Amino acid sequence: IMTKLKHDCATPLPLLRHVADAMAADMRAGLAVDGGSDLKMILSYVDTLPTGNEKGLFYALDLGGTNFRVLRVQLGGKEERVIATEFDQVSIPQELMFGTSEELFDFIASGLAKFAEKEGGKFHLPPGRKREIGFTFSFPVRQTSIDSGILIKWTKGFAVSGTAGRDVVACLNEAMDRQGLDMRVSALVNDTVGTLAGARYWDDDVMVAVILGTGTNACYVERMNAIPKLQGHVSPSGRTIVNTEWGAFSNGLPLTVFDKDMDAASINPGEQIFEKTISGMYLGEIVRRVLLKMAAEGALFGESVPEKLSTPFVLRTPDLSAMQQDNSDDLNVVGSILYNIAGVESNLSARKIVLEVCDTIVMRGGRLAGAGIVGILQKMEEDSTGLIFGKRTVVAMDGGLYEHYPQYKRYLKDAVKEILGLEKSKNVVIEHTKDGSGIGASLLAASNSKYEHDF
Ligand code: BG6
Ligand code: GLC
Repeated sequence: IMTKLKHDCATPLPLLRHVADAMAADMRAGLAVDGGSDLKMILSYVDTLPTGNEKGLFYALDLGGTNFRVLRVQLGGKEERVIATEFDQVSIPQELMFGTSEELFDFIASGLAKFAEKEGGKFHLPPGRKREIGFTFSFPVRQTSIDSGILIKWTKGFAVSGTAGRDVVACLNEAMDRQGLDMRVSALVNDTVGTLAGARYWDDDVMVAVILGTGTNACYVERMNAIPKLQGHVSPSGRTIVNTEWGAFSNGLPLTVFDKDMDAASINPGEQIFEKTISGMYLGEIVRRVLLKMAAEGALFGESVPEKLSTPFVLRTPDLSAMQQDNSDDLNVVGSILYNIAGVESNLSARKIVLEVCDTIVMRGGRLAGAGIVGILQKMEEDSTGLIFGKRTVVAMDGGLYEHYPQYKRYLKDAVKEILGLEKSKNVVIEHTKDGSGIGASLLAASNSKYEHDF
């Protein structure tokens, strides 16, 4: 089983190159016409990036895959930048992921209402103005303007009824009305777009943003004249941010029977294949499926198959990471995690095998993520020779997987170097922008404010 797994998960350089090329080609096809490829290449309507001149009090809502955050930021312009910021964070209750749209948006609006009540101190809004919000909504949305957009479908295991096909800002406005909250969404953004804006505020070389967390996605700065499907949309800067929704990419990926079975059992079979191969929601589940087969057919944990190991998603990606950080001789952390999660006693050789499985799946994920990033950079470089690899180019990165899984991060970075070679890769900086999407959304709320920055 191990030999076949390693064979099926192998990511040699030619395969990585092929994935990068396919990513670039799918990007072009998705930019040419809607539905042109797996990649939706969604126009964000974010045509100008933060300049540093943004001023005033702004709120941000950040609905990620795991957590919901609400922030307020007092921006002070070029000199003072971020004067003050406060936030609250809660994990999204499991039942809301399967409930109704009203329940989910009521949860968001009531979190916002409670948080807004505590405003004071350094936060200040000139009289007569509504509080404005940047809304980071981390799901595929067909934007209809900077402050409106229709949910195409849920991803990352969400199955909320009644939102797909609706304007998510209208859903939020209705919920705010129910709370008696008089605030206005001035920017609706994907989490990648928020991250790019947040990182760009501090560093002009940021051209791409990637999320590697529960789910995965990337956005980048595109030239308007490289978007044939654009109709009538004019950007004064000649550029715009495109949300690739690369989680849906599927071209040339090395998939195993475990991936295919997991996909078939998922609530969105056939969809989000790249996401299912490289992102945090799924890596633990793939490993669990491999271990279950090894237990059943190879007696990995003795004669019987541990019952708990049959429960989908019982092994989570943070467990894999914790096991892979175990440097002890007897791998006791691995042993105790396996015991607590799968209810099994394991000997040293079983623990070593478990680590080998984790490493195989994580190496494939990290390397493929690296190839995806190269694909985006390559596409940008092809359109503007020298402007990507000929100078410093920053990829802003966020998400729990990248942040908390050192091996994954190393595999990703090594793959980028391997594909690009020393010369080109020395100009590519992959930088962790922690929690940048909330600040980014508030900056975009500021630059799209309906009020003048006249105070
Ligand atoms: C957070 C961002 O830091 O990372 C969110 O603020 C983003 O916008 C999230 O969705 C992704 O990470 P995870 O691990 O929560 O899916
Ligand atoms: C999923 C969503 C996407 C989001 C990503 C990271 O792929 O579809 O919109 O950016 O997760 O959170």
